[in-house]
Amino acid sequence: MNAFADVDRSGRGPELLRYLDDVHRGLIEPKNVMRAGLAVKPGHRVLDLGCGAGHELVELERAGRSAFGVDSGSVMLEASRLRLGAHGLPVRLVHADAHDLPFADASFAGCRIERASGSRTASLPPCAPRRHELVRSPSAGAGAASGRPGPPSRW
Ligand SMILES: C[S@@+](CC[C@H](N)C(=O)[O-])C[C@H]1O[C@@H](n2cnc3c(N)ncnc32)[C@H](O)[C@@H]1O
Repeated sequence: MNAFADVDRSGRGPELLRYLDDVHRGLIEPKNVMRAGLAVKPGHRVLDLGCGAGHELVELERAGRSAFGVDSGSVMLEASRLRLGAHGLPVRLVHADAHDLPFADASFAGCRIERASGSRTASLPPCAPRRHELVRSPSAGAGAASGRPGPPSRW
């Protein structure tokens, strides 16, 4: 099991946060492509599942989306909270496991998962059924995107 599967118990929070900050700089373009692929309209709600340090939550908010971050790591959620706050953006964070999300079906117009597939979410298919339930709403024009942009991770 890699440290990102249970950040809090890993005891490696600061190191993992530094890693996310470091690689983020090299992933701007793939993240932009991924965001465009989500095709969530301005004002609509989008879920970042395994949001990590909140880099993409900031970009989604800046792009006018209503971004919700879910992560099982409290150290990650705290970093997200600080990052969003530093940008004066709304903080919508939920401490939850991807396998047991506290949202009703069709709560979101879109959902993204980035680089969380090396974690416990690896047991889920690329588009997890629960995530499908969550995001697939024909009336809302829902969409989902998953991807592993960038170089292989070193964790
Ligand atoms: C490699 S990091 C990627 C973070 C972010 N998506 C990014 O690309 O910068 C994986 C994230 O998924 C979270 N995670 C791992 N397993 C999870 C689970 N079962 N439920 C929710 N979050 C989980 C970790 O805490 C970590 O923040």
